[in-house]
Amino acid sequence: MDRIRIVGGAKLNGTIPISGAKNAALPLMIASLLTDRTVTLENLPRLADVSLLVRILSNQGADYSIDGRRQGEGREAGQTVHMTAREIVDTTAPYELVSRMRASFWVIAPLLARCGEARVSLPGGCAIGTRPVDLLLMALEKLGGQIEIEGGYAVAKAPKGLRGAEITFPKVTVGGTHVALMAAALAQGTTVLHNAAREPEVIDLAELLNKMGAKITGAGQSTVEITGVARLNGAKHRVLPDRIEAGTYAMAVAMTGGDVLLEGAQAHDFQAALDVLVQSGAHVESTNEGVRVSRNGGPILPVDVETAPFPAFPTDLQAQFMALMTRANGVSRITETIFENRFMHVQELARFGARIKLDGDSAVVEGVPVLKGAPVMATDLRASASLVIAALAAEGETMIQRVYHLDRGFEALERKLSLCGAEVERISAGG
Ligand code: EPU
Repeated sequence: MDRIRIVGGAKLNGTIPISGAKNAALPLMIASLLTDRTVTLENLPRLADVSLLVRILSNQGADYSIDGRRQGEGREAGQTVHMTAREIVDTTAPYELVSRMRASFWVIAPLLARCGEARVSLPGGCAIGTRPVDLLLMALEKLGGQIEIEGGYAVAKAPKGLRGAEITFPKVTVGGTHVALMAAALAQGTTVLHNAAREPEVIDLAELLNKMGAKITGAGQSTVEITGVARLNGAKHRVLPDRIEAGTYAMAVAMTGGDVLLEGAQAHDFQAALDVLVQSGAHVESTNEGVRVSRNGGPILPVDVETAPFPAFPTDLQAQFMALMTRANGVSRITETIFENRFMHVQELARFGARIKLDGDSAVVEGVPVLKGAPVMATDLRASASLVIAALAAEGETMIQRVYHLDRGFEALERKLSLCGAEVERISAGG
């Protein structure tokens, strides 16, 4: 298994190109199963999760091809992938694949809507919590799907097709909203979603579906209306920039000091996080090219934060922000309201000398003047990013084990950071 070695202390200065968003890319790729025509996605990030999803979708019958590099295109440019599910050859998504990536459970929606049946393994829990799929299944049942749980699989049937319905989510769910959008796009009649997720990735999915011929209005608001159509066409769509990757590097700069342009980032996609960074003493400027973050000289100030669905502070930046607060000039309280167990990074941050106490769904972080490098272990994707941020500011060397977690969601992390002056290297398993 690869490791990442970081020697802390360097300020970050330069430009970091922001990749396409993983959490947009995955539902966009899954939506390609809704049509027998070609869906072309540009700016797809080179990530382990994207490659795994390609494998899962090809198992369902999707062909895919990836464009080679074009003249003048840098190494950081996203990939262009063409996906064509001319025929669905298998409506089962097996345990071996779904258990490796939760989002692949969402294939249940296009399979059921297009083929009238789907058999998809339940994804199971993961490091950040139990993560049930009851609301996704509720949405499909409202649309007329008959669902049984058999042998660890959700077996869904809609022999006469799905039909529009009113769906009220008791809790905001990104995956539930994605699933409802995809299924309702091919249902007969009109569907209204209440308390839908408003995340930018939901808007991105709705935009692709509309380009494919769906009739969706209100995406990005709590109430979304979808008028079903009989069939969807192919389309071309550019994946939106990754707000979580951008937010992560923004926090890294706030931690080390320096001045970095997050090229391509859109401030309005992670404004709540940027506002918190400003409160913590960083300087943030939105430009035509992206978002510029700097901190020069001043201390890191403590800020209390509570995660909540978009547009509030995202749970996917909670661990990274906690890393920043370990060096703050005082005490901060970080409350996690989305996932019940998303504090795996606390014990690893303690290995740098951070002082963090857990108090129910909150972590109380007492800033310390110095962190010291240590051997640490990545536990999940975003938690791993928090260890990178701590390591960048720590005295001495940090060795991060289980880097495959980072590879799921951060494209070329070590290259992007090194180009800004950080001492970061990957030590591959063989070397
Ligand atoms: N929930 C239910 N029942 C359901 C679905 C969700 O109780 O049927 C609960 C969850 O347990 C959680 C809350 O609702 O407490 C919100 O979960 P949501 O469905 O919004 O999460 P998700 O769709 O499974 C996506 C992202 C996550 C991100 C969350 C929240 C992708 C592929 N994943 O997950 O990203 O944390 O939304 O914003 O889009 C990550 O990228 O590291 C990651 C975990």
